[in-house]
Amino acid sequence: MQNAKMTIEKSFRLGTVDNRLYSSFIEHLGRAVYTGIYEPEHPDADEQGFRRDVIELVRELEVELVRYPGGNFLSGYRWTDGIGPVDQRPRRLDLAWRTIESNKVGIDEFAAWAKKADVGVMAAVNMGTGTPQDAGDMLEYCNFPSGTAWSDLRIKHGYKEPHNIKTWCVGNEMDGPWQICHLTAEDYGKKALETMKILEWIDPSVELVVCGSSTTLMPTYPEWDRVVLEHTYEKADYLSIHRYYENFGNDLDFLASFMDMDEFIHSACATADYVKSLKRSKKTMMLSFDEWNVWYQKNLQLHDWIEAPPILEDRYSLLDALVFGGLGITLINNSDRVRIACLAQLVNVIAPIFTEKNGKAIRQTTYYPFKLLSKYGRGEALKPVLICPDAETKYGRTPLLNACAVYNEEAGELNVFALNIADEELKLTLDGRSFGSLAMQEHLIIRGDDMNAINTFDKPDAVKPQSLGTAAPAECLELVLPARSWHVLRFKV
Ligand code: AHR
Repeated sequence: MQNAKMTIEKSFRLGTVDNRLYSSFIEHLGRAVYTGIYEPEHPDADEQGFRRDVIELVRELEVELVRYPGGNFLSGYRWTDGIGPVDQRPRRLDLAWRTIESNKVGIDEFAAWAKKADVGVMAAVNMGTGTPQDAGDMLEYCNFPSGTAWSDLRIKHGYKEPHNIKTWCVGNEMDGPWQICHLTAEDYGKKALETMKILEWIDPSVELVVCGSSTTLMPTYPEWDRVVLEHTYEKADYLSIHRYYENFGNDLDFLASFMDMDEFIHSACATADYVKSLKRSKKTMMLSFDEWNVWYQKNLQLHDWIEAPPILEDRYSLLDALVFGGLGITLINNSDRVRIACLAQLVNVIAPIFTEKNGKAIRQTTYYPFKLLSKYGRGEALKPVLICPDAETKYGRTPLLNACAVYNEEAGELNVFALNIADEELKLTLDGRSFGSLAMQEHLIIRGDDMNAINTFDKPDAVKPQSLGTAAPAECLELVLPARSWHVLRFKV
């Protein structure tokens, strides 16, 4: 057994974790909306057609914001198709996913769902086929109190109070040639700037997110980000980045995905900081990592022109949950720059919640690390010192332990998250002397003998966290972390 040591000093603080680090995403894609959150024919649907069972599962995750309505869908979306009497809404071709969009759910219904699910909305405006004027109209419709054509239309549609959406994405993955009306960095930068001026003039309280790179693998990365920021630096509040991981056959490489995420965050920050220097700006650009997850893109299969087809319905294994949990740890360790992060997505489409049409809703394996991070990862992120063995992976020398610590002084709680990616046990010594002594409240673990195990409708609890109990108070604790396991260690301080 190899040894690892984590020293946690309570005064070494990275900063307060923004609660929006625990955000997610719902796109008009596959069964995310239809038969996901919305299914009027379902026995558990409420008076607006929303599935109560799904709302319960979303509430349990304590999600902060949900990004909506896309995604690639966004770049061809006419937001006005989704407002007004439902039976008069147009059915449209969605060119992004080759499906039929019924428009039965639009921004008003989504805002109503968000209230029920106790989440905020992170809205997005179309920078593909959409114009800066369309974007302004949508914001005016959503946020302006009353007395203008757009705000009065919202009231006429039954929404007297403004939706008051504070966070807006200016387009989606505009660096990608797959995007409807993809632009060059130069063209997007100019269009985004003009759009942001309009948005800010309509509602100065909004926060704006500009499109950075859709993955590190883009040949335009990080040049795209530099050019876009040179146009938009003073108006943008966040640079958006996206990244998905999948298993290409080497489990250790896959488990090491957090290395790539860490590198992506650092290089995106370095690019933003270059533009900051260039502009002699006092503002430091923050990141919105508004799409992250495990996604088996190699399995993507589109259907031709069907309404709400089952696409991107990845079923997550125990191994996927471990990788996912490692990515979550890395987001916390970078929470001084990553202020928003959206697990993409929330229901059915590469999601922690999976539903049967007219049937059950279950928690996929990835549901649990997200839930535990969201529940126990709020407070001050600390800067622990980690000494542990490493191994060669496709990302270079990789520590076999990924870990972070979050201190909630008010609640008197210290929570440590750790992922052992080694194929053997690690003995972890946890040195918390700066806290006096650490009294462990709970040790939760996600592990199992079958890395391919998944949760199904018949066996919904095949993979879930187990509680290992507590340990006697001590200044230095010694714990054995089984091979390939993810942990939450909860201490009362
Ligand atoms: O989340 C699925 C897709 O991934 C989104 O539509 C797009 O933004 C990204 O490429």
